[in-house]
Amino acid sequence: MKKAHIIATSSYVPETILTNQQLEQMVDTSDEWIQTRTGIQERRIAGAEEFSSTMGAKAADIALKKAGKTAQDIDCIIVGTLTPDYLFPSTACLIQDLIGAGNIAAFDIQAACSGYVYALSLAKAFIESAQYSCVLVVASEKLSSIVNYQDRSTCVLFGDGSAACIVSAEKTHLSIDSVCLGSDGSQSDLLILPGGGCKNPTSAKTVEENLHYIQMQGKDVFKHAVLRMEASCQECIQKAGIQESDISWLIPHQANMRIINAMAKRFTHLTQDHIYKTVHKYGNTSCSSLGIALDELLQEKAIHPEDKLLLTAFGAGFTWGSSVLTYKGDVA
Ligand code: ACO
Repeated sequence: MKKAHIIATSSYVPETILTNQQLEQMVDTSDEWIQTRTGIQERRIAGAEEFSSTMGAKAADIALKKAGKTAQDIDCIIVGTLTPDYLFPSTACLIQDLIGAGNIAAFDIQAACSGYVYALSLAKAFIESAQYSCVLVVASEKLSSIVNYQDRSTCVLFGDGSAACIVSAEKTHLSIDSVCLGSDGSQSDLLILPGGGCKNPTSAKTVEENLHYIQMQGKDVFKHAVLRMEASCQECIQKAGIQESDISWLIPHQANMRIINAMAKRFTHLTQDHIYKTVHKYGNTSCSSLGIALDELLQEKAIHPEDKLLLTAFGAGFTWGSSVLTYKGDVA
């Protein structure tokens, strides 16, 4: 059977920085509160003419270039996003057009912050079943479009950005050894954007009630995030046939430094340097968070052949997922 590899990664963040000090001028908050509770110092905000499609296309172009491929070489596009440009058509179709790909399969998946791992899992299945030979995975979020900048409990947390990777069996870079996914819809109301769907179609009333903005019970989400990611990591490590101590790098969803630290406690053999963090500079970029962190880790750190990377994510739904990757050499 063919084995799926990530052969190139990329990421993109908008230029505009929103600092904690700037947020102090917008809502009743403080740099000290935000840093103590979340570890976030600043986040990026997309421009008025930047969307999940355009940011995703930027990341896609970079990944294709790094892989030594053109848009014509890919035969499927999977986009993870909870901030699509439109309810329909899909952001994947918009990206297909923007990058100049052929008339190939293109679709969005909605697994909130776990979308990158869900998309990787699909790409792996497509490659290993030989349905497709080169899959473009994109994660892209313009969370600033669904954040209420008058709600201090959420507006300090989120940022914009995108990431992409190319999955193929034809070259090696990072082998995708195992993927585990999960969900629990009974907790869906703890993290939700209630308006704009068929249950609460957009109306003057839904806008007046702020139903078009993210609503979150932060404390509850926090507890579920730690428990689910811990369990998912264990499942994924077992599925890969390795031990916890074999993991060289932990790349958790970048929602909150306290969640990352709580997760990292299990991995006593890892130094802080091997638990990769971007949350301080980008905040929570939802689906894009893991892809951005993976790409920056590969650029910044000395990764050695056979190092094992553990990705883990958690998001609205609830959804969660993990993946074990093995570094096979610097192709991209
Ligand atoms: N500045 C100052 N005070 C604030 C702020 C703020 N920005 N936000 C809330 N507070 C206040 C609250 O009003 C509350 O005040 P009170 O005690 O007088 O009522 C107090 O601070 C404590 O609020 P809590 O919500 O209990 O604070 P907590 O320690 O739980 O931290 C946080 C909140 C940071 C949101 C945390 O719960 C968290 O990170 N949760 C998880 C978020 C997450 O992981 N999301 C992942 C998925 S995201 C996705 O899928 C899109």
